[in-house]
Amino acid sequence: MAIRPILTAPDPRLKAVSTDVEAVDSAIRALVDDMADSMYAAEGIGLAAVQIGVARRVIVIDLDQKDGKKNPIAYINPKILWVSEEMATFEEGCLSVPEIWDDVERPARCKVEYLDRDGVKKVLEADGLLATCIQHEMDHLNGVLFIDHLSRLKRSMAIKKLTKAKKLEAAS
Ligand code: NI
Repeated sequence: MAIRPILTAPDPRLKAVSTDVEAVDSAIRALVDDMADSMYAAEGIGLAAVQIGVARRVIVIDLDQKDGKKNPIAYINPKILWVSEEMATFEEGCLSVPEIWDDVERPARCKVEYLDRDGVKKVLEADGLLATCIQHEMDHLNGVLFIDHLSRLKRSMAIKKLTKAKKLEAAS
């Protein structure tokens, strides 16, 4: 298990479309463990493998981090089977888009099929924050960031801010 650096926008690697995992083997379980470690270290609630530079369709989410208890759930090769017509708006942030938060509207509920850490097929119907989080992380697998859902003006302001922060970081 290892904490791996998280890529930040505008990094072209975040635009990659991730590919399916063929088999949930020990290498994939090690990837899941590294993702969980990296997510907790960065104080996030969700992470896609592409955010640590591995363009495979693997997501880790843990919305129940309380009292230091950790319960990371891996979603491997997730597919959205259904989304509700009803929409919901949450203020989103992203470990790959530091210091920026904004409202994003998405379907309020979704049904997702995936393989768990043991390679067992599961189907989950999610609502609330989990539904938003799953859709946000699945966007990453297709090279989409939450700022891509904002208006063109807001997105370009966000990219400008991120680029400036990177320049400052490089200069320091
Ligand atoms: Ni994200």
